[in-house]
Amino acid sequence: MTTSDSAQTEAPAKAPAKDPWDLPDVSGLVVGVLGGTGPQGKGLAYRFARAGQKVILGSRAAERAQAAAVELGADLGIEGADNAECARRSDIVIVAVPWDGHGATLETLREELAGKLVIDCVNPLGFDKKGAYALRPEEGSAAEQAAALLPDSRVTAAFHHLSAVLLADPETEEIDTDVMVLGESRADTDLVQALTARVPGMRGVFAGRLRNAHQVESLVANLISVNRRYKAHAGLRITDV
Ligand SMILES: NC(=O)c1ccc[n+]([C@@H]2O[C@H](COP(=O)([O-])OP(=O)(O)OC[C@H]3O[C@@H](n4cnc5c(N)ncnc54)[C@H](OP(=O)(O)O)[C@@H]3O)[C@@H](O)[C@H]2O)c1
Repeated sequence: MTTSDSAQTEAPAKAPAKDPWDLPDVSGLVVGVLGGTGPQGKGLAYRFARAGQKVILGSRAAERAQAAAVELGADLGIEGADNAECARRSDIVIVAVPWDGHGATLETLREELAGKLVIDCVNPLGFDKKGAYALRPEEGSAAEQAAALLPDSRVTAAFHHLSAVLLADPETEEIDTDVMVLGESRADTDLVQALTARVPGMRGVFAGRLRNAHQVESLVANLISVNRRYKAHAGLRITDV
């Protein structure tokens, strides 16, 4: 075979694989937090605002969100609004309401959340005298329920394993944890990873599609057991990536 023959039979050169750590710039995006008056929502808002992100807290009552924003510190520029306005004005919307109110909250915000990048961090858990245990939502997971209720949104899941106590503690300079990020679109999970990386110490790691969100949400029951036994605020690290 001549050189030109072999050149004709060779497959076209593949584009080099994208570096999975080459993440987009999210610094100009507005982050909204539904249920932003609770420990998890306030903690996330505090960290993202402290990293320079514009944040809007959402609540069922605008005045509660405004009070929570003031409590976090006027210098951070956090605003408070009702959940609908928060969703409307944000590019990325974190869902941080309790599992009990998850479906009903999202159902009423379908229009406001259309086209938005939604990050669900809800852990459906039950508690009894033996401690925390995972619930199994009909749709498979809280994240899949969100995706079913919000067909026009880009639903992802992340931030399940963070300690609200550490997030809110101003003395804690770095949040020493990885964040498992799930979603159907690589472009969207890249944005969530990039947002995660805004917080010193935190790293977002792609962890699959939403059909695998149940294990990630459920793992919090184990972390709660760890925290109780060792009086800790445990995080997670994924090794070798
Ligand atoms: N706490 C953590 O360390 C942690 C860590 C990771 C993930 N998470 C997840 O994050 C979510 C929020 O946790 P949290 O501890 O912050 O919860 P939370 O304090 O019980 O609730 C957060 C906020 O949601 C609103 N809310 C309460 N009941 C509601 C309902 N039925 N419908 C709509 N909104 C309601 C309340 O705000 P308004 O009254 O102002 O509307 C409340 O301040 C949970 O799903 C949890 O699984 C928590």
